[in-house]
Amino acid sequence: MVGDIKDHHYTYSGDYWLPPAASTGADGPDMLFRAVLGLSAFFFFGVTGAIIYLVVKYRHRPGHKAEPSPAHNDALEITWTVIPTIICVILFVYGWRSYLSNVTIPEPRAENVVYVEAQKWSWNFRYYNGLEDNALHAPVNQPMKLVMTSKDVLHSFFVPVFRVKQDVVPRRYSYAWFYPTKPGIYRIYCTEYCGTDHSQMKTKIVVHETGDYERYLSEAYAKKRQLSGAPLGANVFTKKGCVGCHSIDGTPKIGPTWKGSYGADVSLEGGGTVKVDEAYIRSSILNPQGQLHKGYPPSMPLTPLSDKEIEGVIAYIQSLK
Ligand code: CUA
Repeated sequence: MVGDIKDHHYTYSGDYWLPPAASTGADGPDMLFRAVLGLSAFFFFGVTGAIIYLVVKYRHRPGHKAEPSPAHNDALEITWTVIPTIICVILFVYGWRSYLSNVTIPEPRAENVVYVEAQKWSWNFRYYNGLEDNALHAPVNQPMKLVMTSKDVLHSFFVPVFRVKQDVVPRRYSYAWFYPTKPGIYRIYCTEYCGTDHSQMKTKIVVHETGDYERYLSEAYAKKRQLSGAPLGANVFTKKGCVGCHSIDGTPKIGPTWKGSYGADVSLEGGGTVKVDEAYIRSSILNPQGQLHKGYPPSMPLTPLSDKEIEGVIAYIQSLK
């Protein structure tokens, strides 16, 4: 049973070879990768070996006279045309089949459809029961469908162990699907350059044992509903992407730190100052471009929060002395 995923380690930490496959969709790309690599190695060593052998064998030396070689050899030309053609067609057919299975999105049961929202620089996953999380959850041995969009710029959803990679585009939906075969915790990356902290736009997918997926979602939802005040604000901070641009330890990131900010005077872009109080925090969330903190880029996205969540964020910021 996967409890609070913060405390868990990735099932796989990485080396220089293909990551282990953890979905049915990995079989096609992996076979093609090995086939292309094997063929390339075979021809590389074959051609290089032949060149070395012939250079040595026919090198210029006393007592040997150069002879003209025939200009044309039909059998040879047909061989080196037909064999590579057959190889290319085989690779194409396997690639095409693998591509089709990748882009043919199945319609799974409603519980296995997740809405994905990307923004600079975090991921938000929304589940059938209303839970929102910055980690993706999925049950093992069932198809999962992702309906994805972006709040700002182009991002790309990438799970190496699934061999799934799909652009996430503002103002439209794109889709991805996978069928996980091994429970565990795996990495998700953004794989489309999307600005300063693109390389930090990563999260995890938790593949649950059968039955644990639904249990985790309903427990997490119940837990979140009980939260209020500063603990709810702390939850919003990590789960709704605030952590992508704000710190709680005093370090400025893309946005100002939350630590010690409550009650401070802030210089505004375009002149004037404002005191960080409840009203300023609320208006910064509801209208991020309204009163811009001088010296920070106007990059805060509009993040829909409930009143209760906004009050939680205010209480959380107040608590960060
Ligand atoms: Cu989002 Cu790169």
